[in-house]
Amino acid sequence: MQKKITVIEGDGIGPEVVQQAIKVLDAVCEKYGHNFNYDHQLMGAVAIYETGEALPKECLESCMYADAVLLGAVGDPAFDNNPEAKVRPEQGLLALRKALQLFANVRPVKAYDRLMHMAPVKPEILQGVDFVIFRELTGGIYFGEKKVDKDYTQASDLCSYSRMEVERIARMAFEMAQKRAGKLCLVDKANVLETSRLWRKVVKEITTDYPDVELSFLFVDNAAMQLILNPSQFDVIVTENMFGDILSDEASILSGSLGMMPSASKGTGTALFEPVHGSYPQAKGKDIANPMATIQAAAMMLDHFGLTEEAKAVDEAIDWAMEKGMVTKDINPESFFPTSIVGDLIASKIANDIDHVNNKYRIYNQSTII
Ligand code: IPM
Ligand code: MN
Repeated sequence: MQKKITVIEGDGIGPEVVQQAIKVLDAVCEKYGHNFNYDHQLMGAVAIYETGEALPKECLESCMYADAVLLGAVGDPAFDNNPEAKVRPEQGLLALRKALQLFANVRPVKAYDRLMHMAPVKPEILQGVDFVIFRELTGGIYFGEKKVDKDYTQASDLCSYSRMEVERIARMAFEMAQKRAGKLCLVDKANVLETSRLWRKVVKEITTDYPDVELSFLFVDNAAMQLILNPSQFDVIVTENMFGDILSDEASILSGSLGMMPSASKGTGTALFEPVHGSYPQAKGKDIANPMATIQAAAMMLDHFGLTEEAKAVDEAIDWAMEKGMVTKDINPESFFPTSIVGDLIASKIANDIDHVNNKYRIYNQSTII
C-alpha cells in the first residue's frame, strides 16, 4: 500500500515521540511491504518562530492532499502567560481541525492491568474499563464568536451548534457503539444549556435508526464524578467540544498515564492522529517522554487505512514492551528506558529483529539508573 503522510512534529516533546512512531511505521512498511511517504511540516510555536504563523499555508496544503496527518503536540509556555500574544501555537491546531473539518475526535480509554498500580484510582474500580469518547471538535464554544472590549472589562465566547453538527458525530458514535457493547451515553448540560437541549433532541430522534444501541444521558457534572466512581459502566460517550476536552483529560488518569492515550480526529477528508498529551516542555530533549501514545496513534492510523493486521501487530508490540518492563519513567520511575530506546525496541519487535532487542535490553536492564 502506498500512502502520503504529513508529519507535524510540533513543539516540546513532539519531535521525540513522533520520531519513535515513524520508526515503528517504517518497521511495519518493511515487514508488510508498504510504502509510506512522509512530508514534514511546521505547526505551532516552531512555526510561529520560523514563519510568524501558527499554521503556515504550506503545512495546511500538505495536510489537505495527504492520506493522513501524524501530529506530535503543540504548545509553548512562552505564549501561555501572555494574554496579549497575537498568535498562539494552539491556534494552528484549531485552524487545522476546522480546515480539514475534523469534526469527530475519537479518544479510546483503557485501563491496563500492568499500570493499575500507577493510577490514583483503586484497581477494583479500574477492572474492565474500556470505553471510547467521541468529542465534537469543530464547533461549540471553541469556535463561536469571541468578543472582548478594548479595556478588557468584559469578554464573551459564544457556544453554538447546528443540528447537522450534532447529527454527524452522533451517527459516528452510534455506529461505534454497534461495533462494541451497544451502549451510548450522551453527556450534556441539558438542565441549563440550550445547545445541550438541541443535542438531546437530535440524538433522541436518530436513535430509532440504531435499535440495537441502548442510549443514556448524563449531565456533565455527574459524568465527571461517574468517570471516577464507576468508569466501567461506559462503552461509548458522545459529547460536545469543551466537555469532551475536559472529560478526556480526566479519563486519561484511568489508563495509568497520560502517555498512554492516543486519539484520532476524523471528518470527511484527511484524518489526523495524535497523542492526547501536550508538548510537555519540561521534558523536551531529555529522551524521557513516553512515546507509546503516539505509537498507538500511528496504530489507529494503520487501522484507518484498513491495515488491521498491521495495527494489531503494533498494539501487540506495545503490550510486549510493557510486559518486559521496557517503559519510560512515567510508568516505572525506578527502572526506565529512554524514549528513543522504547521506540527502537518496539520497531525491532515488529521487524522480528530479536538480536537487536536482546542487545539493547541487556544494556538497559542491567542498571536502574540510565
Ligand atoms: C486537546 C488540546 C487542545 C484542545 C488545545 C491544545 C487547543 O487540549 O487536543 O485536547 O483544547 O482541544
Ligand atoms: Mn485537551
